[in-house]
Order: sequence, then C-alpha cells, then structure tokens
Amino acid sequence: MMARSLDEIFERALKSRIFKNREILLPDYVPEELPHRDKQILRLGGVLAPALAGFRPSNVFIYGLTGTGKTAVTKYVLRRLTVKADKRVVYAYVNCRQVSTNYRVLAELVRSLGRSVPFTGLSTTEVLKRFVETLERSRRIMIVVLDEVDYLVKKSGDSILYYLTRLNTDLRLSKLSVIGITNDLRFTEYLDPRVKSSLGEEELVFPPYTSSELRDILMMRAREAFYPGVLEDGVIPLCAAIAAKQNGDCRLALDLLLKAAEIAERDGKSKVTEDDVRRAQREIEKNLAVDVIRSMPLHVKLVLLAVFLMERERFRNITTGELYNKYKELALKLRIDPVTQRRVSEIINELDMLGLVNAQVVSMGRYGRTKRIKLSVSDRCVMEGLYEDISLGSLLKTLMK
Ligand SMILES: Nc1ncnc2c1ncn2[C@@H]1O[C@H](COP(=O)(O)OP(=O)(O)OP(=O)(O)O)[C@@H](O)[C@H]1O
Ligand SMILES: [Mg+2]
Repeated sequence: MMARSLDEIFERALKSRIFKNREILLPDYVPEELPHRDKQILRLGGVLAPALAGFRPSNVFIYGLTGTGKTAVTKYVLRRLTVKADKRVVYAYVNCRQVSTNYRVLAELVRSLGRSVPFTGLSTTEVLKRFVETLERSRRIMIVVLDEVDYLVKKSGDSILYYLTRLNTDLRLSKLSVIGITNDLRFTEYLDPRVKSSLGEEELVFPPYTSSELRDILMMRAREAFYPGVLEDGVIPLCAAIAAKQNGDCRLALDLLLKAAEIAERDGKSKVTEDDVRRAQREIEKNLAVDVIRSMPLHVKLVLLAVFLMERERFRNITTGELYNKYKELALKLRIDPVTQRRVSEIINELDMLGLVNAQVVSMGRYGRTKRIKLSVSDRCVMEGLYEDISLGSLLKTLMK
C-alpha cells in the first residue's frame, strides 16, 4: 500500500500536467527580467558603473520591506556588471543571516578572491590581514554585498562595517565598496553615526509592489513555469491581491502560486483554481504560526501549552487566574521556577498580538476584570510548534497519552 502510493507520487511528479519548470518559482531563482524595478536597476547600475573605468563606486545602502526585490535586483546588476568588467571587478555576496560573525564574513571575502581560509583557528585580525593582502595583490575593484546586514550587526556589532568602509585609505592597488541591504527599517539606529554616513553614501529605497505590479511579475514567471492554460483566470490576480495586502511581498506572491499549483497537482488535477490559492494561503499561514511558536522563549511556550491543554480538557472561557494555575503546574512538572502572574498576564498580551490566542477583557462586576482566553490557531499548529522543543517534547508526549 505504502509502496504503491509512493510510486504514485513519483509518477505524478515525472509526468506533471501542470509544471513545465517548477524551479522558476523557487525563491533563489533570479529571472532574466525584473518588471517594475527599472528605476532601482538603473540607479544601482549608475552608482556602480564607475568601477568599469577603474574608480571606486560609492557605498550603497539598500532598504525596503521583505520581498520587494532587493536581493534579486542587486544580484542582477552585479552579474551584468562583472560580465562587462572582464575580471577587473570582483564581487562577493554574503548573506549575513547565514554568515553572521566577523570572522566568517571576512573568511568568505578572502575565499571569493580565490584564497582559502580555515573555518576556525585563526584570529579575526589574521583573517583581516589576509584579506587586505589578497585584495591588494589582486589589483581589482571589489564590491562586497552584505545582504540582511542587520543580522550581522545585531550579533557581532558594526566593527566590520566600520573597517570595510574605511579600508580604502590603506589600499593602494585595489579598491573596495560596500553594499549593505536590510529590510529592518530601524536598523540604522544600531549603527555608529560614522558607519551610517559612510555606508549611506548612496541610499536606495525599494517600495512595496502594488497588486497590479505583482500580477505582471507573476504572469511573466508563470509563462515559463506552467504549461499553457493550466491556471484559471482568477488565480494570478488572487495571489497578487493577497500578497499586496501583506506589504507587497513578491516572495509571498510566488509562494502562493507555487503552493496552489502543488495542491492541485497532489489532487491529480490538471488545472489550478482560486480555491487552491486559498488553501495554499491557509497552509502558509499555518507554517508561519508554527515558526513563530518554535522561536518563542520557554515560558511563553508554556503559557501557550497551558491554554492548549485547558481547551482540550474542555475548559470554556479560561480566565487569567485559571491559566496561571495550569501554567504553574506545568512549570513544576518541568522542575523550573514559574514566572509571576503579572508576567503571565503580559505573555498573554504578547500571544494575543502574535495572533496565537485571543484574549478578551471582561468585567466581573464587583470582582473586577479578567481576561477570557481562547486559542486562535489550530491544535496541530500548536503541537507542531512545541514538539521540537527538547524540554517540552517529552512532556507533551506524557500529557497527550
Ligand atoms: N520585479 C520582479 N520580477 C520578478 N521577480 C521578482 C521581482 N521582484 C522580486 N522578485 C522575486 O521575489 C522574490 C523575493 O525577492 P527578493 O529576494 O529580491 O526580496 P528582498 O527584497 O531581498 O526580500 P528580503 O528583505 O526578505 O530579503 C524572489 O524570488 C525574486 O526573484
Ligand atoms: Mg533579500
């Protein structure tokens, strides 16, 4: 039985009636054209162009909300620039969410100049020295892209940025410029004013996409990703409209389209409908909530677990006091010190703001006021979010028996 359904899944993927090329819709695919980003492409190209004539381009600071094309545009412009430059310009792309220590960033830069650096063992100063030596020897203009740079600064401070934006005074044969990218609009508050001004020699803002812009983008990518006639008419407009409401996030728009098509395919259909898009939306929202739960601190998770268990025990209209008792019971089982009732009350507000529970203040007449607390996400979502926590996984298992 098992083997047969597995075979069926494989068969379906092999002769998909929907996808001509699924990869086109994946997030790291950089398409040949980026509609509605001409202005940003030309601006960035204009700032970097002096590199072709041997001059150091200004440093650039790029910001805009998530999914507005910052990474795609930057990679697109740099790829074209390096083709034109024929080895006189080299660029290094570092994603600081994945590479978030000073040592590893520098090691990555040295590696992109063709020299190897051990993963550990050297001091940061030593790697820095190697970087400067190698760059000087290369006699090139180097453009360093630090994408999602806020992760680096929050984890390791801004000393690397300070250093890199000032390095040119020590270089004689080579030159360096830095492109910093972030979607954290408050990020510059973390920066030393000197770093802020040198990184921001040029600033580039990426506005959110509108619904009709997203429609054009999806249309273009869908043409290569799907067989003709597979998408019902309303599919792309619906994906675009949902994503436009979420801050014009193109990644979400593409993800909705991909998931909707996968859902249709899983059901053995040859057409994608608006209903598939709505199902995809629910799936994505569920996954987001699971990720949020996974990343919460332990006591916040415990409060959520308390709500979850009380609902399963058929408690209705859970009050803050009842919830606190349940929470304390769980803390005791885990042998950890409970936080105060006041803190639990704050945690409930936080969970409410995250959309995981609904907490309504109700008056109890002369007994004052309390909250009525309800779960706003599915049981499965809570279970999935909590299960991987080492301290909670086994507790969940015993409680759910
Ligand atoms: N104008 C466009 N045309 C086609 N695809 C686009 C366009 N803009 C963005 N995309 C696609 O949308 C997705 C998200 O874009 P990108 O990764 O560049 O966003 P971002 O601004 O870097 O977001 P984040 O801040 O989350 O890193 C990518 O798959 C990208 O290829
Ligand atoms: Mg990005």
